[in-house]
Amino acid sequence: MSIQEDQISALVERRASARIAGGQARIDAQHAKGKLTARERLGLLLDEGSFEEFDMFVQHRCTNFGMEKSHPDGDGVVTGQGTIGGRPVFVYAQDFTVSGGSLSKTMSEKICKVMDMAMRAGAPVIGLNDSGGARIQEGIDALAGYGEIFERNILASGVIPQISGIFGPCAGGAVYSPALTDFTLMVKNTSYMFLTGPAVVKSVTGEVVTAEELGGAAVHASKSGVADFAVENEQEGIETIKKLLSFIPQNNMEPAPLRETSDPAARVSDCLNSIIPDSPGKAYDMYGVIREIVDDGDFFEIHRSFARNIIVGFAHMGGRSVGIVANQPQMLAGVLDINASRKAARFVRFCDAFGIPLVTLVDVPGFLPGTQQEYGAVIQNGAKLLYAYGEATVPKVTVTLRKAYGGAHIVMSCKQLRGDINYAWPTAQIAVMGADGAVDVLYAKDIKADPGHAAEIRAAKKAEYEELFGNPYQAAQKGYIEDIIEPRNTRFRIIRALCSLEGKKQDLPAKKHDNLPL
Ligand code: HXC
Repeated sequence: MSIQEDQISALVERRASARIAGGQARIDAQHAKGKLTARERLGLLLDEGSFEEFDMFVQHRCTNFGMEKSHPDGDGVVTGQGTIGGRPVFVYAQDFTVSGGSLSKTMSEKICKVMDMAMRAGAPVIGLNDSGGARIQEGIDALAGYGEIFERNILASGVIPQISGIFGPCAGGAVYSPALTDFTLMVKNTSYMFLTGPAVVKSVTGEVVTAEELGGAAVHASKSGVADFAVENEQEGIETIKKLLSFIPQNNMEPAPLRETSDPAARVSDCLNSIIPDSPGKAYDMYGVIREIVDDGDFFEIHRSFARNIIVGFAHMGGRSVGIVANQPQMLAGVLDINASRKAARFVRFCDAFGIPLVTLVDVPGFLPGTQQEYGAVIQNGAKLLYAYGEATVPKVTVTLRKAYGGAHIVMSCKQLRGDINYAWPTAQIAVMGADGAVDVLYAKDIKADPGHAAEIRAAKKAEYEELFGNPYQAAQKGYIEDIIEPRNTRFRIIRALCSLEGKKQDLPAKKHDNLPL
């Protein structure tokens, strides 16, 4: 063998050993926990043969606590670039088999390098987290590493999509990187996120909880809203990330990819003409409306288990990616509350940052009343959604299906928040409040003065109120909506509206940045 051939075979050997830097025993332990390794995850995520690994031979520089005795290649994270469905992405996957995927200074440098590359290339960055947090032996260097990553998360926000998959532990300050990214996905039973673990919780508050109860996928997907997705297993997690990417653009300057469809834009849905129940107090399923109007009935929901009184997610309409926001009458009558406002506001801001048009379906009886909501700052949280819609400059098409009462009507992408095209179904009721509440306020004195005829007074005034506000004609007369449409034509009308808005350009006043009600 020539010297060169020797060198090449040494390289091949070194690469092979770098690929299992944590050792087979730790890989087996990872599998025994039902988890994949960092490389297996990237293998599933990226198009076959597309992965270009960077910094495979980077080693930590720590000399504390015996660390100087071992220098595994790659140092606990696999980083690089590849494609998903042919589109370039930058990736990092923490390798739990090397020091528990804990973050060293060199590991943070590897992660920051791919984040910087993603920014320069205008491509999404996907981080797969599985880590014991800051590498304890490195002390402040590890903390500095987190700071470097967080700063990049912040600067990349609104420029390139950032997606976090949590595939194992993510504890302490480490949770703030996913929290700064656009979407966080967690795997049930094998991943958790918390600032302080069960042991610290017990010693400080006396509360006894398991890691799953404290910060598991189900908890964050349904109670805190920290996770956008909770999936059953890693394979489903990877597929979810890929599907999410198919709706969003590479960066804030490019359009989202078009998706070919055989679903005709002019398809009518007769079933929508009878979906609204006769009684205003009766619910119907908003998912049924969404699936009828989007291409091929394919709706990709975000935050499915959190604040279920509002639905947000992506779909295609006429091949274009759209963000759908819709009240859900089946859950708390579709009322807006703190969590629904937070959830929808964040989604609206993502769509606006990345040029994805917003389609809003309104059936909202108002904001949820009560001390719990007021003490929890429903005022400020509701204002987040109001702000997000008012600030958004992407095409905004709104359809009011039934109720649109009070402040909630304004918040849900009304005309005055620079809504582009606002339609209503003939069943729409756009008013300050519902008929019963209005009659109680306006005719309290008359009812008190003549209690024997309270029921007749109420019925007569309610009929008068409903005649005036229980339909969309007043709003249409005043130009607050563009048209009253037949429900069966909703898909076609929205698609046509979106086509007409394709070249929309709208500016905001010059400012350093806004001061939205956080
Ligand atoms: C160095 C670590 C480590 C860490 C784990 N390891 N976490 N090494 N720094 N933070 C090492 C272990 O020593 C072990 O090494 C290997 O990784 C696997 O860990 P195990 O404990 O055997 O695995 P498991 O039983 O699955 O438990 C995983 C774990 C636990 C729950 C994550 O390791 C753990 O509690 N780690 C510490 C978590 C933590 O408190 N981190 C600091 C958070 S504060 P060997 O060689 O035996 O295989 C923080 C601040 C960030 O991160 C601030 C940013 C602003």
